[in-house]
Amino acid sequence: MAALDICVVGLGYIGLPTASLLATRGHRVHGVDVSQRVVDTINRGEIHITEPDLDVLVRAAVASGNLKAALQPREADVFILAVPTPHHADYRPDITYVEASAVAVASYVRPDSLVILESTSPVGTTERVAELLMEHNPSLRGADGKPKCAVAHCPERVLPGRILYELVENHRIVGGLDARSTDRAVEFYRGVIKGDVHPTDARTAEMCKLVENSFRDVNIAFANELSIVCHKLGMNVRELIKLANRHPRVNILSPGPGVGGHCLAVDPWFVVWAAPDEARLIRTAREVNDSKVDWVVDRVREKAARFKNPVIACLGLTYKQDIDDLRESPSLEITKKLRAEFADGVLAVEPNVKDFPAFPLTSLDEALRRADIVVALVPHKEVLRIDSERLKEKIVIDACGAFK
Ligand SMILES: NC(=O)c1ccc[n+]([C@@H]2O[C@H](COP(=O)([O-])OP(=O)(O)OC[C@H]3O[C@@H](n4cnc5c(N)ncnc54)[C@H](O)[C@@H]3O)[C@@H](O)[C@H]2O)c1
Repeated sequence: MAALDICVVGLGYIGLPTASLLATRGHRVHGVDVSQRVVDTINRGEIHITEPDLDVLVRAAVASGNLKAALQPREADVFILAVPTPHHADYRPDITYVEASAVAVASYVRPDSLVILESTSPVGTTERVAELLMEHNPSLRGADGKPKCAVAHCPERVLPGRILYELVENHRIVGGLDARSTDRAVEFYRGVIKGDVHPTDARTAEMCKLVENSFRDVNIAFANELSIVCHKLGMNVRELIKLANRHPRVNILSPGPGVGGHCLAVDPWFVVWAAPDEARLIRTAREVNDSKVDWVVDRVREKAARFKNPVIACLGLTYKQDIDDLRESPSLEITKKLRAEFADGVLAVEPNVKDFPAFPLTSLDEALRRADIVVALVPHKEVLRIDSERLKEKIVIDACGAFK
């Protein structure tokens, strides 16, 4: 593929690796972010997020002269929008970042440009992007009222911790607003990644990503519900699941303290919002997973009742093991709720986070020394390595299967 001018909008966990990868492949990449700190950090060849090997890639991309960051977009052959898509407090999708990024690039888009939305998006968002591009740049509106530029959606499916590998190796779903847009976007990705590129339409591509995450959420909810049922029946849920999984067509996942992160805990709500009366299972799964937080807090409260001044060690605050990401973390939520009740009797341990302003962190060693109750919330490698001798005199609540 000939070298292209590419404008990547949103330089976070998705945009920055994507921009750096494209720059090291010889494309001229103009990265855009609303944060001056992010722009300055990247232009120094440094990174503002944690991801293995990303520092090396960004340094190489910036040193090659092919990656520059700025606050404002500029004209390009390809635009990639990779901005956040959270939900509002009432679970309605919040696509204001996508809308703002579409408005920001509109006047720099040419009729021969390709605009790709990579953010995880509710169905219809790619159409909304096209509308905004035409509204803010009327030269993009064709005689048929449709955009002259190509507009497509290509959801990102990478796993934090493996982003650089998965960015290249994963299959991608590409859906354009029309066949021409799909073809342009498919050609672009085939020139960049090793995984297969699967063409479809924009709405199916949007739904595909939401369904993938809903599938995971529903399956985790099944395991979480089983853990609650088994507790009531006095059974060991992990032994039960191990035995059930000996069936050739059964594969139950592991229960945990809930579901966190900005994907699985968020994206299923976009489906529920689109079809509230129909998406009953998906909604219930969200509710089951969210309810695990209070359920774990109740278990701790029961055990704490026998102590006058219980000391409770909460091991892990992030939303999954061996990362520093606290977004939507059920473990953090549990720890906050316990601190609201037991104040400094709760010792929070999180080896992956250095600066944590909300409350003091305690070292694992000190927490194990002082605690009456040990609550395992995240199976970080440090937690898995705990010598069982150190837990002998403690009450252990293993919410994440660390000590199974
Ligand atoms: N992080 C992941 O593992 C992952 C995986 C798959 C999909 N996604 C999806 O990718 C999208 C981006 O997620 P992320 O994790 O990279 O988010 P992020 O928060 O890490 O980064 C987003 C960046 O966009 C910037 N930004 C916000 N509004 C902007 C605007 N109008 N113009 C320019 N920059 C703007 C922010 O300052 C931030 O640096 C989301 O839709 C997310 O659901 C993320």
